[in-house]
Amino acid sequence: MSGSNASGVKSFVGLIVAALVGVPLFIFMVVKLFTSGSGVNLGLMTMTDQAIEARLQPIGISKVVDSAPIGQRSGKIVFESVCISCHGAGLMGSPKFGDTAAWGPRISKGFETLWTHAIKGFNAMPARGGSTDLTDDEVKRAVAYMADDAGAKFEAPAPAAAAGGVVDPETKGKEVYESTCQACHGTGAAGAPKFGNKADWSAKLQGKKPEDVIENVLKNGNGAMPPKGGYSGSDDEFRAAAHYMINHAK
Ligand code: HEC
Ligand code: HEC
Repeated sequence: MSGSNASGVKSFVGLIVAALVGVPLFIFMVVKLFTSGSGVNLGLMTMTDQAIEARLQPIGISKVVDSAPIGQRSGKIVFESVCISCHGAGLMGSPKFGDTAAWGPRISKGFETLWTHAIKGFNAMPARGGSTDLTDDEVKRAVAYMADDAGAKFEAPAPAAAAGGVVDPETKGKEVYESTCQACHGTGAAGAPKFGNKADWSAKLQGKKPEDVIENVLKNGNGAMPPKGGYSGSDDEFRAAAHYMINHAK
C-alpha cells in the first residue's frame, strides 16, 4: 500500500514538474512558431501589396513627389515614383529592377542609347515613363540608377540642388563664403560665429530651424552682421553660403 502511495506521490510530483516546465515551454514554442511565422508572412504580404500597388499605378499621370524642385530630383526618387510601376516588377517585358540578367544586354547598348530610348520612348516603354514633367537630366538619372544597380557605371548629371536649395553650398556657396563671408566668419571677427566652430554655430542655431535663422540675417542682418552679409549676389547664393558654413560646423 505504502509503495503504491509513494509512486502515486511521485507521479503527482512528476505531473506538477511537467506542468511547470512543460506548459511554459509549450507556450514559448507556440509563440515562437507564430511570431516567426507571421514575420515571414508579413514580408510576403507587403511584397505582394507592393506588387499589386505597382500594377495599379496609373500610367501617363505625373506621380513625381515634390521632394525636390523640378529638374533637381534624384534618380532614386524618379525611379521610386515613376519607373517602378513597370520596372519594379518587370511588367510588359521591361527589364526588372535588380535583375542583372535582364539589364546586362541593355547596359551593353551604352548609356546614351538607353537614355535616348527612355526620353523618346522605346516599343512598349513610354517616353519619360509617361511622366511628361521629368526633365532630360532626371530621366538620365533614373536610367543610371536602375542600370548602375545592375552593374553599370553610368554617370548621370548630378542634381544642382544639394541641402541648401537650388544653389549648391559646396561649390557656389563655398565661393561666396570665400569672397564675402570669410572676412568676418573666417576669424570670428565682431562676434561672428567662426567657420568650422561647432560651439559658435550651435549657439546661433539653438532651438531654431537653420532656414529661419538664415532668412532672418538675409533680410535684417543681426548686430554687426549686415543684411545678406553685405553680399550683392542673389538671395539663393547667400543661402548657399550660409548652408556651406552650417554644414561645416558639424
Ligand atoms: C508603362 C511601363 C513603363 C514605365 C512606367 C517605364 N518603363 Fe522603361 N521600359 C518599359 C518596357 C516595356 C521596356 C522594354 C521595351 C523593349 O525592350 O521593347 C522598357 C525599357 C526601358 C529601358 C531600356 C531601353 C533599351 O534600349 O533597352 C530603359 C533605359 C528604361 N525603360 C527606362 C525607364 C525609366 C528611366 C523610366 C522612368 C522614368 C521607365 N523606364 C518607366 C516599360 C516602362
Ligand atoms: C562684417 C562682418 C560679417 C560678414 C561679412 C558676414 N557676417 Fe554673418 N555674421 C556676422 C556677425 C557679427 C554675426 C553674429 C550676429 C549676432 O548674433 O549678433 C553673424 C551671424 C551670421 C549667421 C548666424 C545667424 C545669426 O543671426 O547670428 C549667419 C547664417 C551668417 N552670419 C551668414 C553670413 C553669410 C552667408 C555671409 C556671407 C555672404 C556673412 N554672414 C557675412 C558678421 C558678418
